[in-house]
Amino acid sequence: MANPVAARQAAAPRAPARPTIDPYPALARAALLLAWAPGFGLGLYLLLGIVLQWDVGAGWLPLGQAHGHAQVFGFTALFILAVGTVLFPRFLSAPLTRPRQARLGGILIAVGVGLRFLLQPLEAGLTRGVGLVLAAALELVGAGLFAHATLGVARASIQPWAAWRRALALGLGSLVLGYLLNLAASLELAGGRAIVSPALDEALLHLGIWGFIVPVTLAVGLKIFPQFLLLRPPRARLFGPAIVAYGIGMALVVAGWLVQGWRPELIAEARWLRLGGWSTQTAALLLHTFALRLFEPAARRSGMPHITNPTRLWFRLAFGWLLVAVALGAFFAARESTTGSAVGFVEASAQRHALTMGYLLPLLVGMAGRILPGFSGEMTRRPRVLAGMVWLLLVGATLRVGGQLLGGYVGLAGMLTALGGTLAFLGFAWFAWLLWPTLGRKPGAVPPARGDRDGV
Ligand code: HEM
Repeated sequence: MANPVAARQAAAPRAPARPTIDPYPALARAALLLAWAPGFGLGLYLLLGIVLQWDVGAGWLPLGQAHGHAQVFGFTALFILAVGTVLFPRFLSAPLTRPRQARLGGILIAVGVGLRFLLQPLEAGLTRGVGLVLAAALELVGAGLFAHATLGVARASIQPWAAWRRALALGLGSLVLGYLLNLAASLELAGGRAIVSPALDEALLHLGIWGFIVPVTLAVGLKIFPQFLLLRPPRARLFGPAIVAYGIGMALVVAGWLVQGWRPELIAEARWLRLGGWSTQTAALLLHTFALRLFEPAARRSGMPHITNPTRLWFRLAFGWLLVAVALGAFFAARESTTGSAVGFVEASAQRHALTMGYLLPLLVGMAGRILPGFSGEMTRRPRVLAGMVWLLLVGATLRVGGQLLGGYVGLAGMLTALGGTLAFLGFAWFAWLLWPTLGRKPGAVPPARGDRDGV
């Protein structure tokens, strides 16, 4: 009988003749451009505008939504996909055979997100309506092209179907669903609404933030952290159940928002669905963290303590924010179900930014400084610069989220919120400034991954 592994390898597409990092540079540049304008730039303008009472006008809410969409479905999605095109072929020991198609997919996403940012704040009208639907269609087609181009890597791989791949599949599946749901949201906007209706917007953001960002970053962490941070051998059997439970919890929260949007009379049931979802997500993330052993003492002393030790501290703090953010979500959902008092605008914002500013940004910049081609080499030579950026982000997140939870946008709490946003903006701007010239350099060393050997 023919050997199935050999047959699969023979059927796998051939690797390109020369090693290439295409489409990483183009996608990372597109991500940074979106981050500069509708992402961090617009976010800071809106935050300072509300705290310092500038006259931003009626456009504040539409601009806030355009910023949120650009950050989650533009900057973060493209940045993670860009880095993914470097990392995942290595993790799976299989080449990316359609880099040009992946690049085109990413560029279509970027153009769609840019169009949405330009058009959403405009007065209702035919041009705005058609343009917004076109923007959402570009994002969806781009995501489809990207998925088609990269699925071949997973198919060609003979690596075992480990837990990190489950987390990755959950994340990428949620992202594609998010672009699909965004088409429905854009049809609403095209009908003349200035902003997407709150329940649909929340469902969309939950898919993007908790459905995409969290599982994909957990997947990368599963492959890299144990070896890189010298963690004790993980409790690998727990990862699979944790990820399945997480996916169920995430889907329940999204379902709760969709039910509330389409059948408002079922609001009580929708709230219980969300409470069930948030509680399951919280339990799953606690289980995942316990299995990863991130907060336990290291397995041994590092031969490069100046690299390992600060990184371990940053990632522990980022995971601390992840747990704070999910606990806030569960707390607000419990309060809503038991007392009927809905989550306030500022509370929801604090909860969202606890995850995106406290967890995502330090993790993203810290990992970039350790694994990205070109950039990681430079950061090894300039460790204080990397530390400066990560600490600006961590302190910025603490002040921003703390200020919002203490009192929102007024008085001393407002000033703390604004200062936090400004520090985080500076931290990210510094990162983007240093990363840009390194894009396009040939791959450096990616730390060897131990995940498959440990069964994660
Ligand atoms: C310097 C950093 C940032 C600043 C100053 C900032 C500021 C703001 C402001 C003022 C709003 C409108 C109020 C609200 O709904 O919360 C907002 C909303 C939002 N932001 Fe940020 N933000 C920052 C970073 C981020 C990051 C890194 C992400 C995601 C990766 C993000 C995602 C969102 C989302 C999803 C919304 C909600 C949009 C909606 O309601 O549809 N923000 N941000």
